[in-house]
Amino acid sequence: MTTKLWIQDAGYESAKKTFKRSLQRLQLDYLDLYLVHQPFGDVYCSWRAMEELHQDDRIRAIGVSNFQPDRLMDLIVHNKVVPAVNQIETHPFCQQIETQNFLEHNSVQIESWAPFAEGKDNIFENEILLSIASKYNKSVAQVILRWLVQRRVVAIPKSVRKERIVENFSIFDFELSPEDMNAIVALDRKVSSFLDHRNPATVKWLGEIKFNT
Ligand SMILES: NC(=O)c1ccc[n+]([C@@H]2O[C@H](COP(=O)([O-])OP(=O)(O)OC[C@H]3O[C@@H](n4cnc5c(N)ncnc54)[C@H](OP(=O)(O)O)[C@@H]3O)[C@@H](O)[C@H]2O)c1
Repeated sequence: MTTKLWIQDAGYESAKKTFKRSLQRLQLDYLDLYLVHQPFGDVYCSWRAMEELHQDDRIRAIGVSNFQPDRLMDLIVHNKVVPAVNQIETHPFCQQIETQNFLEHNSVQIESWAPFAEGKDNIFENEILLSIASKYNKSVAQVILRWLVQRRVVAIPKSVRKERIVENFSIFDFELSPEDMNAIVALDRKVSSFLDHRNPATVKWLGEIKFNT
């Protein structure tokens, strides 16, 4: 069970209060994984609060999301607990191969958000993915998830449909060949399909979002 701390809730006291509220809303006694949602705002005070909650066994593991390697290294060298996970956009059009190497080198697990690029750019109709899928008698969604698993990337696909949730779990009875794994590498555009976390306008927009919670 994972949840995330949003930028507007950053800070030592605020992180502790927000964590408590999340537990109440989820009706849980502890969390498996708590993530800093974005590398912006008062990340350091949030992280100290999360380290304490982790130390007190209220959270089994703490991690981050959307952190570029330099921001992550800054967090690692100035704190006690190394983030267990970095949840970042990872899918066939944005494969994060170099970032994955960096994360693995620093013992941080890469976790893919938007493994299907949220359906953008007709990913489910992509010719290369369709031809691989037909070879294994699987769907494009299953090929993408299998490709991520074989790359040691944790994936959190989202579906509101029961049959697709079942389909998305049914990926452990086949294995993509090295040739098919390589064919998918050719789809990498090496840029986000959503937003650039390095663009000051994005940072401003994220920092100014108001929630009614
Ligand atoms: N950390 C972050 O900043 C961040 C940002 C974005 C998302 N996330 C998280 O990432 C997770 C993934 O969700 P996501 O919405 O980003 O994107 P996603 O999993 O890439 O795509 C979800 C879309 O794919 C469809 N879909 C799911 N399974 C399918 C299948 N087998 N065949 C065809 N279509 C399928 C879904 O439609 P149906 O629902 O109609 O099936 C939905 O439209 C969520 O937990 C989300 O909270 C995190």
